Amino acid sequence: MIQRIAVLTSGGDAPGMNAAIRSVVRCGVAKGWKTFGVRNGFQGLINGTMEPLGTREVGGIMHRGGTVLGSARCDEFKTIEGRELAIRNLNQRGIDALVVIGGNGSQAGANALYEMGFPVVGIASTIDNDLVGSDITIGVDTALNIALEAIDRLKVTASSHQRAFIVEVMGRNCGYIALMSGLAGGAEAITLPEVKTDPEQLAKELHKAYEQGKAHAIIVAAEGAEYNASRLTEYFAENRERLGFSIRSTTLGHVQRGGAPGAYDRILASRLGHGAVEAIDREEFGVLVGLNGNNIITTPYKMIAGKVKTLDPKVIELTQILD
Ligand code: F6P
Repeated sequence: MIQRIAVLTSGGDAPGMNAAIRSVVRCGVAKGWKTFGVRNGFQGLINGTMEPLGTREVGGIMHRGGTVLGSARCDEFKTIEGRELAIRNLNQRGIDALVVIGGNGSQAGANALYEMGFPVVGIASTIDNDLVGSDITIGVDTALNIALEAIDRLKVTASSHQRAFIVEVMGRNCGYIALMSGLAGGAEAITLPEVKTDPEQLAKELHKAYEQGKAHAIIVAAEGAEYNASRLTEYFAENRERLGFSIRSTTLGHVQRGGAPGAYDRILASRLGHGAVEAIDREEFGVLVGLNGNNIITTPYKMIAGKVKTLDPKVIELTQILD
């Protein structure tokens, strides 16, 4: 029978992680369990830094961005010795199950722990939205809205000066934020890690837009695209006379991760936290809790290991029609 659980946040922080922590703790309390909060992700398991968290300790955190537990990317946990130490520390405190809130790398770490025999349940959380097993992950909606607000603002100043702006958004391996913020922001062009960009063609399209009297042009570039902001800036600098527009570039970076979570992320995180506690109660371990349609589902780690969610080609096509 379950009596004690632990929860941690790992990898890049995402707006809504605090609502997930709160939900895990309070749903656990409702079951009569004692919950421990682990500091700084898997590093905290290795260091043995975990404290009991009750209903009051997770009060007043839901509206805050980041994670009150702290997060980290932990190389030591990638070693078998690191994970053995983590399991020893969990056992020492009598923890029956662990909840891991995080993205792809974090869920791979959680799976490695599960494969060594420790009961683990994951909650899908990353602004990249590249996790198989959830239509959308915690933090995506808030990060997208931050990117969108920046695009809208840049469009205003771009129009005043008849400029083209390159806006670089996050996504080292996945272009979801670039694609969706580009769609919602009416971008003239979007560069993605998943799709090859012909810079020559892009320059021609910009020039055509300029000749047609467009007041501005917005190019949303994913951080991990071959033509990200710096490569595009370089290319355009060498081909300036063929563009018409003068070019400016803005990199949003971690600004997108730091916002207070919006309603969507708070609700999603609360539901996924509840789903994780219910999975533990059923003693269903080695699964990721995610959203499918409007249902909270679990997907076995063995079905998602090594996979990355791909972009919808129909959405890519749509952005090309609408630009
Ligand atoms: O995984 C989320 C993410 O924000 C990516 O979009 C980005 O490439 C990466 O994290 C940045 O990582 P870090 O915060 O370690 O620089």
